[in-house]
Amino acid sequence: MTEDILSIDTVALDEGKNALKIIDQTKLPGKVEILYLTRQEDIYDAIYHLKVRGAPAIGVAAAIGVYLAALEIDEVSYDAFYSRFKKAKDYLAGARPTAVNLFWALDRMEKVVLDHSGESPEKLKKLLHDEAVKIRDEDIQVCKSIGEYGLELLNDGDGILTHCNAGQLGTTRYGTALAAIHLGRQRGMNFKVFCDETRPLLQGARLTAFEMVCAGVDTTLICDNMAGMVMKNGWVKACFVGSDRVAANGDAANKIGTSGLAILAKHYNIPFYVCAPTSTIDMSIKHGDEIVIEERMPEEVTEMWYNERMATAGVKVYNPAFDITNHELVTAFITEYGIARPLYSESFRKIFEKKTSPAGARP
Ligand code: MRU
Repeated sequence: MTEDILSIDTVALDEGKNALKIIDQTKLPGKVEILYLTRQEDIYDAIYHLKVRGAPAIGVAAAIGVYLAALEIDEVSYDAFYSRFKKAKDYLAGARPTAVNLFWALDRMEKVVLDHSGESPEKLKKLLHDEAVKIRDEDIQVCKSIGEYGLELLNDGDGILTHCNAGQLGTTRYGTALAAIHLGRQRGMNFKVFCDETRPLLQGARLTAFEMVCAGVDTTLICDNMAGMVMKNGWVKACFVGSDRVAANGDAANKIGTSGLAILAKHYNIPFYVCAPTSTIDMSIKHGDEIVIEERMPEEVTEMWYNERMATAGVKVYNPAFDITNHELVTAFITEYGIARPLYSESFRKIFEKKTSPAGARP
């Protein structure tokens, strides 16, 4: 089973079944179960309940999901088609609030319909199919490119600390923060990866550690509160994390616990890299305070993963799923168009100029 997980795309369109195909991440690492989802309620549920998770993977799932919704529309006029498409788009957009890739992908899909005003529903369905497949294919290339740039910052044998899961299981392939590790490994490099378990949903323990072990990487699992010790021991050359939304000033939302890690890294003088595709950089917001932080069910803290309820009944629970790392704590952002260093208002502008230039992305 071990190598198999890496040969399966995390999220895909099954053309034969007209279904969203995902690995059910709530079952990992115990069981590799593939789901084929066609109903909008099931796709919404898969995003909300983290069967598919990680900003880029959520974006791809939503693009495919809204295409599948469009297939079901039996209206004949453009206006009626658009109105039902918009309803489906707004429904999926409500599944989670923080990862901007969800809205970015759905907006891209809507733009296809808006740019072809008056077209027949049949033609629109074909165009939406092509856009969803393009978003997915691009995700693979984008992650590979992030990995190439990330590798420029690493040396063979380096110890790397990561948080949550920003690997292949959070994207279509390769991952964001873990892409460099996958590429380096394929080229014969050996890294020592420390995975924070990432309370409360344990993405680091269940997903990153699983993915890294499957890839044959030297992997050590630590509880979140052990990161300082590991850094103090001198075992960490760099921190590599992903992001769910980055503001124009470089403030970055990522899985809860990331900002604490960045503060520790600064204390121990360890570079802190945020790996994020440009689809995660939201230039429409000035700073991190504008990012909506998802709060999730108390049971994720008090009950999940325990045979019986662990915390005392009646206790209040605060369960934010993300936090914001202040831009001053980020050494650099690694994007598919290169490495952006402070001042981010300036370096992000250059990254987006590169994106829109005719030369386009690094292959
Ligand atoms: O709640 P999740 O598991 O969707 O959160 C995911 C993260 O915070 C990842 O670090 C982020 O999306 C990185 S990009 C793969």
